[in-house]
Amino acid sequence: MAETDKERPGPITTLLVEDHRRLDGLLCSSRATADQINQTTYDQFRAGLLRHIGMEEKLLLPAVQRWRGGAPLPVAAKLRLDHGALATLLMPTPTPQILATIRRILSDHNAVEEGPDGIYALCDQLPDTERQRLWDALQSAPTVSVMRHSDSPAVLKTLEGALARAGYRLETVAPSEKDEPR
Ligand SMILES: [Fe+2]
Ligand SMILES: [Fe+2]
Repeated sequence: MAETDKERPGPITTLLVEDHRRLDGLLCSSRATADQINQTTYDQFRAGLLRHIGMEEKLLLPAVQRWRGGAPLPVAAKLRLDHGALATLLMPTPTPQILATIRRILSDHNAVEEGPDGIYALCDQLPDTERQRLWDALQSAPTVSVMRHSDSPAVLKTLEGALARAGYRLETVAPSEKDEPR
């Protein structure tokens, strides 16, 4: 195989890396000002991130696990914990602190998935039939509708637990602090 072929990202990598970039853009635009959240944009981000996580949890991770004879990827447990923390962060009314925490987690998490030995590269190396099946399933992954926000004590407790299990905590944000665009 020519060096350029080995280095060129495959179609599954390209599709999901582009989705990361699109979601990063929506998350960034959700922060209308230092203290205000654009709810319409944030809802698009929430629906998009939940769909993205669903594709990884229901399609990518199982496909790689099947390919490995039933053994999950060593990194799968951590990816799932991150997904749990992210999904829980989408439940309460958004605050600059919540947005900063989502961005912090995604920054680490996306780099792991996009890496040369990450889940996306592995999916592009699946046998042809399996890879085609995965590609078709990704194309028809259902859209997700978002629920109303909840700030109940139960949700906040769940959030605290999900963050701790994934090794994160809520980021602290000064009231006037503006996020640097990434
Ligand atoms: Fe993920
Ligand atoms: Fe991802």
